Amino acid sequence: MSLKKEIQRRKTFGIISHPDAGKTTLTEKLLLFGGAIQEAGAVKSNKIKKGATSDFMEIERQRGISVATSVLAFEYKDIKINILDTPGHKDFAEDTFRTLTAVDSVIVVIDVAKGVEAQTEKLVEVCRMRKIPIIVFINKLDREGKDAFDLLDEIEQKLNLTVTPLSFPIGMGYDFKGIYNLWEKNVNLFSGTKRKQIEETIKIEDLQNPELDDLVGSKAAETLREELEIVTEVYPDFNREEYLKAELQPVFFGSALNNFGVRELLDCFIDIAPAPRPKESDTRVVRPDEQDFTGFVFKIHANMDPRHRDRLAFVKIVSGTFERNTPYLHVRHNKKLKFSSPNAFFAEKKEIVDISYAGDIVGLHDTGNFKIGDTLTEGEEMMYKGIPSFSPEHFKYINNADPMKSKQLEKGIDQLMDEGVAQLFILELNGRKVIGTVGALQFEVIQYRLEHEYGAKCSYEALNVHKACWVDPKDSKSEEFADFKRVKAKYLAKDKRGQLVFLADSAFTLQMTQQKYPNIHFHFVSEFESVS
Ligand code: G4P
Repeated sequence: MSLKKEIQRRKTFGIISHPDAGKTTLTEKLLLFGGAIQEAGAVKSNKIKKGATSDFMEIERQRGISVATSVLAFEYKDIKINILDTPGHKDFAEDTFRTLTAVDSVIVVIDVAKGVEAQTEKLVEVCRMRKIPIIVFINKLDREGKDAFDLLDEIEQKLNLTVTPLSFPIGMGYDFKGIYNLWEKNVNLFSGTKRKQIEETIKIEDLQNPELDDLVGSKAAETLREELEIVTEVYPDFNREEYLKAELQPVFFGSALNNFGVRELLDCFIDIAPAPRPKESDTRVVRPDEQDFTGFVFKIHANMDPRHRDRLAFVKIVSGTFERNTPYLHVRHNKKLKFSSPNAFFAEKKEIVDISYAGDIVGLHDTGNFKIGDTLTEGEEMMYKGIPSFSPEHFKYINNADPMKSKQLEKGIDQLMDEGVAQLFILELNGRKVIGTVGALQFEVIQYRLEHEYGAKCSYEALNVHKACWVDPKDSKSEEFADFKRVKAKYLAKDKRGQLVFLADSAFTLQMTQQKYPNIHFHFVSEFESVS
């Protein structure tokens, strides 16, 4: 098969949802359709159980599972599908944001009873900003939930999307009879008594066909006709170009647990979802079918076994092919590296492969060369953009609790930060180290891992910071900037990349500072279009 064809048949996507909406169940059903697993229950949920904040065994267990399910790949109708796992737990939101830099599209799962939840709003906002094509799957139709139109409204308003239903429920909860598939123009009925499977798929091109009445009853048939009339009047027709430009989002209804509506979703997905997309670097836009390999690290996973300190760096291949034992340029280190055992991922296992294509993910064993965002090429000097750090929510001083182990502590902190577990800020004034995290859970993870993997002990000290703001002066030589640096010296720090950060202790301070220094911009993310 030609390079272009191999790449064109790849679809790499992520499933995002608020915890409990059904992401794991849907993933599993997709794998079942792909024949990648034989029975339900094979994909372990990698969600952190509620209230398990200090259960280290739980954290370790999760880390083990999350390696296994980081990438789930399978073939369906000659399409190679790569599902990238995204943690739903809010404390790991930053992991999910980074994974979203490696997907070409997403499926958003929404619980029919709960509607749009907080975590979904945040994640969809990131997708919208990046113009990632989105398909929405409304799950748990076998339960009582919100009215379909109300839900569609809620999705448009809260998620700021323009939706068009490609399937529509016939009844809901106890009265759930099945789904009309607008994409394939047929009716899928939910099995009458046990409500466990699809009874059959019946082609009904013409909604006026009296067969519909026989199938679902006259009342339900009439309601469906009326509702579909509203659908055609109110919602735009599906248009693939608009979906690919992230201007239109198709919606499906179903029940992942009952395997209902999942095949329809998957069949439509492989028809419409994008193949690997071009990606912007700091010098140019790179096309997937370019001959030369390029890729970037979007995730690093530490080895679970403390005797083997190596890590697995997950690389998304942006262009060309990645080949085993071939030297590639690690652009940041300006050094060529060869990989003798690159891993590719298949359903639940990983295997060493000789060649992988744009769109695929390879796992590279790493002894500390990589950090998140690193770019690999065949020699071209360029870096991929778009893996920013967001301002953490929690901040603490980190102190060495065992003076004999300061080297180990240093190394441990360094490597954990490269993995993206948290962010490190070093205060300009006194060199003290501040750790910033998205969730409170990470502080415990860091302490535990420093001790168990590096033999170092740390303690934390409270620090009052509202937000970390990346400082962007219009003119770095101005009197205004010099004054800012003098007055706010106590609150200034450098991040890992050496960028200047203002640790504002309250929203009020930030507002006052902004007013006093109108020519300095403060950003809540580390990557921005500079004002200077
Ligand atoms: P998550 O990964 O998004 O966190 O959700 P997950 O798939 O683990 O699903 C959360 C719960 O919702 C699970 O129940 C799951 O069985 C249930 N669920 C998923 N899809 C459907 C559906 O279509 N209909 C109904 N009625 N339930 C659904 P649980 O009791 O929390 O877990 P478990 O003990 O069943 O694993």
